Amino acid sequence: MEIERVQLQPHGDHGGMLIALEQDRNVPFEIRRVYYIFATQRDVHRGKHAHRHLHQLAVAVRGSVTFLLDDGSGPFEVVLNDPSQGLLMGRMVWRELYDFSDDCVLMVLADHLYDPADYITDYDEFLRETRGIAYATELVAC
Ligand code: TYD
Repeated sequence: MEIERVQLQPHGDHGGMLIALEQDRNVPFEIRRVYYIFATQRDVHRGKHAHRHLHQLAVAVRGSVTFLLDDGSGPFEVVLNDPSQGLLMGRMVWRELYDFSDDCVLMVLADHLYDPADYITDYDEFLRETRGIAYATELVAC
């Protein structure tokens, strides 16, 4: 799991919708933290970091937000605007978040408690570390 969009199963009975997120069923890691981002101003860019160890699942439970993602092979954008869509991000994924709609509530599940030491906030450092990992993987593969 580096970066993956996942479709979450909605249950449409009782005149409304319900989605369950369950560890090891549709969430492929131990859920140790849940946080949510809301009331973000339109011109704000959040994120701008990668995590050395953290795995996360993000769901825009309301509204929309754009992610710029990079696993070291180049940046691309993903728009989350549907509560039945999840975005899985593995370790060493650079992310920037922007274009939050006024009503956006972005919920994030994570497999570790908050740890500032796990953040890489410098993009060049991120590239150096991902290239190091890619090089080590090539050595193992040889
Ligand atoms: P930060 O990770 O910088 O947010 P973003 O990358 O989305 O811009 O976190 C913003 C603030 O919230 C910062 O003071 C740390 C705090 N925080 C927690 O206390 N716990 C958490 O789980 C997270 C994600 C952030």
